[in-house]
Amino acid sequence: MQHVLVTGGAGFIGSNFVHHLIEHSDARVTVLDKMTYAASPEALEGLPSDRVELVVGDVADAAVVDPLVARLTGPEDAVVHFAAESHNDNSLRDPSPFIQTNIVGTFVLLEAVRAHDVRLHHVSTDEVYGDLELDDPGRFSESTPYQPSSPYSASKAGADHLVRAWARSFGVRATLSNCSNNYGPWQHIEKFIPRQITGVLTGGRPRLYGAGANVRDWIHTADHSSAVWAILQRGTPGATYLIGADGERSNLEVVRLILELLGRDPDDFDHVADRPGHDLRYAIDPTRLRTELGWTPAYTDFEAGLAATIEWYRGHQDWWGPHKEAVEAGYAARGQ
Ligand code: NAD
Ligand code: TYD
Repeated sequence: MQHVLVTGGAGFIGSNFVHHLIEHSDARVTVLDKMTYAASPEALEGLPSDRVELVVGDVADAAVVDPLVARLTGPEDAVVHFAAESHNDNSLRDPSPFIQTNIVGTFVLLEAVRAHDVRLHHVSTDEVYGDLELDDPGRFSESTPYQPSSPYSASKAGADHLVRAWARSFGVRATLSNCSNNYGPWQHIEKFIPRQITGVLTGGRPRLYGAGANVRDWIHTADHSSAVWAILQRGTPGATYLIGADGERSNLEVVRLILELLGRDPDDFDHVADRPGHDLRYAIDPTRLRTELGWTPAYTDFEAGLAATIEWYRGHQDWWGPHKEAVEAGYAARGQ
């Protein structure tokens, strides 16, 4: 039976991927997660205990990582590496955990997969490419040069470079993916879409950084999971795949849509202080993934996906409610 080690498997996307593996394969899954503030053990509830094991530990701790990787002895066994500090705004306040987890953690994992000759899939972001002008006809592709803007995106870029160097110099069997902005259930309420949904659900007004002209290329997290699974099964070792679902929307459009879907006046939001160094636009060209691996997204209607996500947050206030006040206090302290 295939055995997959999923780092960061208690986070927003990692936990979705664990569910995907359980539903779409007969793999056994070990989750390695430090259980930081961003982890949601609830997202792993109900999974079969004979197939899913949770190990609480740090991906940057070789004493934890090496023995876990050493257990992956089957020909199909693999590591899928989601563990990261993931929020840009936090990286502007204190970059150090981003360097430690995203760069040192990836280094430690690479040394373990090198020592034990284990297949690795490294999960990254389109933010490593910097940003595009609003009217640029182009999108990011696998050959776009790296130009990260924030400590978060620079730390992910550093990790990507390490993975490629270990593949070339040491023959590590690695694939990489750079995905656009995800939305869906279990996303931490510090992030844009869930912050606005839960804000409106608690009687508040959405908070738009600056003018709201910034564009993000939204993909449902279930589509990110199916793409990673396709790459793990059929991807070419050493290759990078960009994951996106043609979901470009300005932040202003998204806020207005959330308000409309919740039955509120679409202009009932506040402009707040902009993020320093705020990337203007991200956009993914997913041609390689679609043509080489035959992947297609299931969530092609953003409005429908957003409506379902709103309903999910409405039904899970017991999960996010206790954290709302503290998250908003942090933003308020920064004028956001
Ligand atoms: P998240 O912050 O929701 O979850 C991260 C998980 O990693 C948490 O469970 C956390 O406890 C764990 N973790 C953090 N530090 C760790 C450490 N040192 N050791 C072990 N576990 C640790 O993040 P997410 O949004 O699910 O993102 C997952 C991955 O996908 C990240 O690598 C991120 O860069 C990438 N990504 C995210 C997006 C997005 O829109 N959220 C888009 C593209 C790529
Ligand atoms: P975010 O979810 O932090 O993702 P990323 O920085 O990785 O793109 O933010 C998405 C976009 O929304 C980004 O342009 C910043 C903006 N934003 C707001 O306008 N208001 C908010 O309250 C937050 C958290 C983000």
